[in-house]
Amino acid sequence: MQDIIKNYEDNGFVIIKNLFTKEDVNRFAKIARSYDSKTTTNENITYFSALIRLLDPRHYKQHSKWLSPNYIKDSIFLINRKNTDPFKSILKQFGFTGLNAINRIDSYISYKSDEDITEWHSDQAFGGATHPAEFFGGTSGTMSVTNLNKVFVHITKVNYQNGCFSYLPKSQKINLAVRSLINEGLIKYKPILLLEDMIRLVENEYSDALKTKCSEDEINFFLRNGKEALSSDKNFVLECEPGDAVIFNDLGFHKGTAPAKSDRIIFRYWC
Ligand SMILES: [Fe+2]
Repeated sequence: MQDIIKNYEDNGFVIIKNLFTKEDVNRFAKIARSYDSKTTTNENITYFSALIRLLDPRHYKQHSKWLSPNYIKDSIFLINRKNTDPFKSILKQFGFTGLNAINRIDSYISYKSDEDITEWHSDQAFGGATHPAEFFGGTSGTMSVTNLNKVFVHITKVNYQNGCFSYLPKSQKINLAVRSLINEGLIKYKPILLLEDMIRLVENEYSDALKTKCSEDEINFFLRNGKEALSSDKNFVLECEPGDAVIFNDLGFHKGTAPAKSDRIIFRYWC
């Protein structure tokens, strides 16, 4: 039990084997395929995330595209998966309890392709803005340092060079440190969109200030892995079987490798 949280906190991710049974996985696959229009890859389908939302007409608008009796039934199935023993235990360990433990459930299919699904990036990248206040819509410009989580469920097998999710271990710590330094006014805000941007800043402008937040080992570990990751995913792939899940801190750098051999289906439970 401790290991899951410890791994997550240390590395920024943890793999949960067999979160869902084979029967569940088959149903997940069927659901994702039945709402996908097949005209575009990575099309996002969003389901109801809580039973209570089914009772509130205000929530129906955002689901209007897919709404049907089957869609309601499928949403109820997906919501109820949160109550399976393994999932319940995981949510409890992470402290996600109560009605809003999961605030979004969605799926997408990445069709077989030689193109990477995403480059190495952090979900909470700093955009292309030249000042954080601009990026955050004219607010105070303070950046959130909250750790966000997604339970990323693999419905199809993924392995090296075929649809693997890859994560740069411990890179969330570097991103968090950079955020703190910007918030404290100790370093200047710079656009950081991709991993290469962060590597460049950590090596140059942010180098001295970062040493006040991270050890030299942590910084070197990030730079060494980051550079290796840009030329090969091999040592960073998180290989998974159908029904396995990855929970990751999206402040860390990650990548979706091309599903070169088969379609990839993902369900996400957002915490
Ligand atoms: Fe991402």
